[in-house]
Amino acid sequence: MRNLIDITDLSVEEIDQLIATAEDIIADPAKYSHACAGKQLATLFFEPSTRTRLSFESAMLSLGGSVLGFSEAGSSSSAKGETVGDTVHAVSCYADIIAMRHPKEGAPYAAAQVAEVPIINAGDGGHNHPTQTLADLLTIHRDKGRLDNFTVGFCGDLKFGRTVHSLVHALSRYENIKFVFISPLELKLPRYVKEEALKKKGIPYTQTTDLESVIPQLDILYMTRVQRERFFNEEDYLRLKDSYILTPAKLTNAKADLSILHPLPRVNEIQVAVDKDPRAAYWRQVKNGKFIRMALIMKLLGINI
Ligand code: CP
Repeated sequence: MRNLIDITDLSVEEIDQLIATAEDIIADPAKYSHACAGKQLATLFFEPSTRTRLSFESAMLSLGGSVLGFSEAGSSSSAKGETVGDTVHAVSCYADIIAMRHPKEGAPYAAAQVAEVPIINAGDGGHNHPTQTLADLLTIHRDKGRLDNFTVGFCGDLKFGRTVHSLVHALSRYENIKFVFISPLELKLPRYVKEEALKKKGIPYTQTTDLESVIPQLDILYMTRVQRERFFNEEDYLRLKDSYILTPAKLTNAKADLSILHPLPRVNEIQVAVDKDPRAAYWRQVKNGKFIRMALIMKLLGINI
């Protein structure tokens, strides 16, 4: 039985295959409309979500399957003190596959130890978010036609931004990727991510606090929200939340074929005026999230079309 807890649970070849399947779904959705008939997806969200939960549900419904689950911990028996393991064990009795988001790092891994069906990590605390990474990779591939030979800038909360950690791991496995990490000093990429994804493999990266000085060299700019829910005090959040605000003026010297990504939700870090710029890829990212999750659900259920 396969789970997706960390993006490195998938080989590069498997990711390329998921992208190819997603492309086929986009081209001919009717071909897949009964692929998961009779199968049930459970979405167990112990933390808020719009895109991830609803795209998983939409994905399963578009595959002809059905969905069940909860969207807040308070409406599940975890409010009565049930452990994650017991909740997942119980839901395994009803569902064929489980997508789970939890505020505690490692909770989906713990769930996978007791589950009798595949577990998908839909975001665990400030750790990882592998299915967002699949949506990011599909978007980059659709925009650029490849996943190698880029200079990629990550900007904002690189400490708590789980989407950043997973995407750095994923891109570090492709050829000739250079990373530029742009953040306040307090929100730098964690050392363990640098060690595991970059230093061990000798992958080049630079770190800066200044977005505008590096924008001209970037092929991809991955903006992120400062993750208020992970801060220990409100004062620090208020001080750091507007560290970077992308505006049309700041893009004047950017490459003509820059792709601007953001996992969303955004707060203030990309002005709405940027949405009109054809380089803004974040709404395409949202759409792509559904198709790549359709491909993932089929893969983990062992369904081939
Ligand atoms: N990108 C993402 O995880 O969005 P949601 O929190 O809305 O699911």
